[in-house]
Amino acid sequence: MCGIVGYLGNRDAFPILIKGLKRLEYRGYDSAGIGLIAPSGSLNIYKKTGKVNQLEAYVANQNTAAHIGIGHSRWATHGIPSDSNAHPHTSESGRLAMVHNGIIENYAALKSELLARGHHFASETDSEVLIHLIEEIQQNEGCSLAEAVRLSLSQIIGAYAIVLINKANPTEMVAARKGSPLVIGVGENEFFIGSDASPLIEYTKNVIYLNDLEVAHITQGQLNIKSIDNNVRTPKIQELELKLEAIEKGGYDYFMSKEIHEQPRSIKDCMRGRIYPEQGLVTLGGLKEYSEKLKQAERLVFVACGTSWHAALVGEYLIEDFARTSVEVEYASEFRYRNPIIGEKDIVIAISQSGETADTLAAMTLAKERGATVLGICNVVGSSIPRLSDAGIYTHAGPEIGVASTKAFTAQVTVLTLFALYLSQLKGTLKQGKLIELLTELDHIPELVERCLQLDAGTRFIAEEIKNSRNCIFLGRGTGFPIALEGALKLKEISYIHAEGYPAAEMKHGPIALIDEDMPVVVIATKNSSYDKVISNIQEVKARKGKVIAIVTEGDEEVRKLADFVLEIPNADDTFLPLLASIPLQLLSYHTALLRGCNVDQPRNLAKSVTVE
Ligand code: AGP
Ligand code: GLU
Repeated sequence: MCGIVGYLGNRDAFPILIKGLKRLEYRGYDSAGIGLIAPSGSLNIYKKTGKVNQLEAYVANQNTAAHIGIGHSRWATHGIPSDSNAHPHTSESGRLAMVHNGIIENYAALKSELLARGHHFASETDSEVLIHLIEEIQQNEGCSLAEAVRLSLSQIIGAYAIVLINKANPTEMVAARKGSPLVIGVGENEFFIGSDASPLIEYTKNVIYLNDLEVAHITQGQLNIKSIDNNVRTPKIQELELKLEAIEKGGYDYFMSKEIHEQPRSIKDCMRGRIYPEQGLVTLGGLKEYSEKLKQAERLVFVACGTSWHAALVGEYLIEDFARTSVEVEYASEFRYRNPIIGEKDIVIAISQSGETADTLAAMTLAKERGATVLGICNVVGSSIPRLSDAGIYTHAGPEIGVASTKAFTAQVTVLTLFALYLSQLKGTLKQGKLIELLTELDHIPELVERCLQLDAGTRFIAEEIKNSRNCIFLGRGTGFPIALEGALKLKEISYIHAEGYPAAEMKHGPIALIDEDMPVVVIATKNSSYDKVISNIQEVKARKGKVIAIVTEGDEEVRKLADFVLEIPNADDTFLPLLASIPLQLLSYHTALLRGCNVDQPRNLAKSVTVE
């Protein structure tokens, strides 16, 4: 979490840094800060609790002239969000300033040693300890700043992306990473740094993705990279494909709304060049090398967090049904610490929008250590998860900036649908005619998603009804169950209404005790094999005076008679229910959150990219 920026060149650094921080704000937004070295040589640090525009207003009348600087938008892990805990932090002498993304796990021990040696600390953060250590090592060793950073990092346990500037040398910047992302943009005699590429894209298309355990020493016009164990690395410059329009709101009030409405296109992009309906063929180029292994695999293990974990559950239903391969879905955070039974025969598949989720990365590393093949399903091109994967599939949803995942989720579900069909094709578990039928229907799903978006007004009307509720239950069966979980997560994360998702049949084993006239119950009740059973579940809710909001198939009459509100989605094969039913649930949480006055793009306490455990 947290966004980091840096600039070194001939331009005015301040506007570049502020604009960059605004682009990265989705990563953390409890406080922000900037450090600049003025042409006079003074190091000016401005830090403020709150969002980047609060920092901007605070700095408005200050001297911001500088050609070098760093910036940070924080998601606090150690120490409350406050002006003093905001980054950049400075060294004991005040000569060095640093921004940090991650957690220094052994900070407490290092801090007590530094305190004993006479250091003074101005914050409660773990980060400040590191900058003190770096300066101390530089003074003791009489070495360069880059060398001091390298030596210090060998003492650090934890995760970091750091950028430092040095008042004594206003033409140098040092950056390093382990576990948290860092991208360096290379211009003409200038360098840009960002936690992702969004702060750099209007200045340069040439980027270097710093690898874990690498230290970059940047001076005007020069960049050198060394590994932490002191080997010189040749920087690999890559061309950025990201477009500026993709990270702007494009006429929408919120990124979340833009991203919800982009889904017909993002789902299409995700399928592009991968399906050939007339031939009944799915191709997933990235998996070609592993097709035999996939065919032979007795089980697949998915590791993911949050929404990506919900997508994995949808994958489990589809893969087991179509390809008859057994699937296990694991929370990455549990998998990594519970000594799982994983070996060379296993295929572990990580799913992640950001490609930077610390728990998912650690689960992959563990699986690799135990000899498993590790595949990745990821949205952010070039991020850590695809780089750690043996092979994988990109979701191609385009940048997702709203903290609540919407289009990335439906793109993950699309990829998993393709994957289930691909595997069944490899294994011959589906008849060709069935494959043709399903792929032909899948090809038209973007149009049906477009029709689901017309539920905007209907969901807004229902949002008025539920906006004052304190709790909400979501129910579904089959793939409707993970969609219920995802619907509940969406509502709770952006509107702060407590919401839980359950398999509809589980309600009677406990949650039914919660139902009364104040409890909205959202039920996925489309026409499929469990339709009659879901109707019984709705009856059970109504018998206890619950308020039923049902997602039904167009033209449904039966549920309409029972439910308080219905939202109709187009008729489609059950396989595609997750892609269609998700849309009204996203819209419902979006409108409910707006009516409650919540910030839908940056919900409290959350961050888009969870790079800490
Ligand atoms: C989704 O709305 C969430 N904010 C969150 O659960 C997210 O899905 C989770 O943190 C996993 O992120 P990833 O997909 O980037 O790995
Ligand atoms: N651990 C640091 C802090 O709490 C950095 C957190 C972050 O990545 O934003 O300040």
